[in-house]
Amino acid sequence: MSRPNRFEGKTAFITGAANGIGRATAIAFAAEGARVAILDRDAQALSETAEMVKSAVGEVLAIPCDVSQPVAVEAAVAKTVATFGSLDYAFNNAGIENKAAPLHEIELEEWDRILNVNLRGTFICMKYELAHMVKQGRGVVVNTSSGAGIRGVEGGASYTASKHAIGGMTKSAALDYAKQNIRVNAVLPGNIATAMMDRFTAGDVQKAINLEPVGRLGQPEEIAEAVLWMCSDLGGFVTGSEIVVDGGWSL
Ligand code: NAI
Repeated sequence: MSRPNRFEGKTAFITGAANGIGRATAIAFAAEGARVAILDRDAQALSETAEMVKSAVGEVLAIPCDVSQPVAVEAAVAKTVATFGSLDYAFNNAGIENKAAPLHEIELEEWDRILNVNLRGTFICMKYELAHMVKQGRGVVVNTSSGAGIRGVEGGASYTASKHAIGGMTKSAALDYAKQNIRVNAVLPGNIATAMMDRFTAGDVQKAINLEPVGRLGQPEEIAEAVLWMCSDLGGFVTGSEIVVDGGWSL
């Protein structure tokens, strides 16, 4: 259900917005009145998201940006504030999947590749978003973790390490800013039907479905709904939480 005016006059800043969960969340924010700044390193797909946001009657600022690059992220935050006048909600969602391998076979380059985007990239975004939110006197941050942020996954040590670490960083930051009218939470998706899944073989997708107690993949819009609730005033007593939206996968 869309509530057209819930985020009117507010600005949402969304990373990894060219595809999947980030794109669905950008469209959902726009449908409820928010102006959206969308970031992604895939400039072509980002411009497609921008068109979709516009047709949801939203104001949009598309910023091609790699979240692991601090200078670019700092500039993106500044450009968002200069364009829209505020940065009220930050959804740090850009992330990448690991190549499956038992831990002793993980190359250091592969470990660094995953941690650099999923963990360091999330930290960099939070650093500059929160610096602005402190000045602004309010804000909400939501980080995308994963069901793999609270349990292990065979062949996924680097990815699970990055997502578990997002949980710790989220909780510590929630404490750092609780007295400053800033809330920090995480959303933990299960197996969601996005491009991340498109890279799986049909057999692997069926395996993912079989691992979901509810017997289906989740939809990106189901994650967006949880993110919007955490950002809304009705989510105002929620901070430092990891909201699991995974069809029971992590149980
Ligand atoms: P996706 O692959 O459809 O979208 C991820 C987006 O992040 C892409 O547009 C990609 O270009 C962007 N991106 C990757 N590295 C980036 C970087 N360094 N800088 C800027 N943008 C970058 O994937 P999906 O499924 O929408 O994933 C979004 C988040 O959800 C990720 O953090 C992922 O780990 C998490 N997640 C996804 C699950 C799934 O089953 N799809 C399950 C649990 C968590």
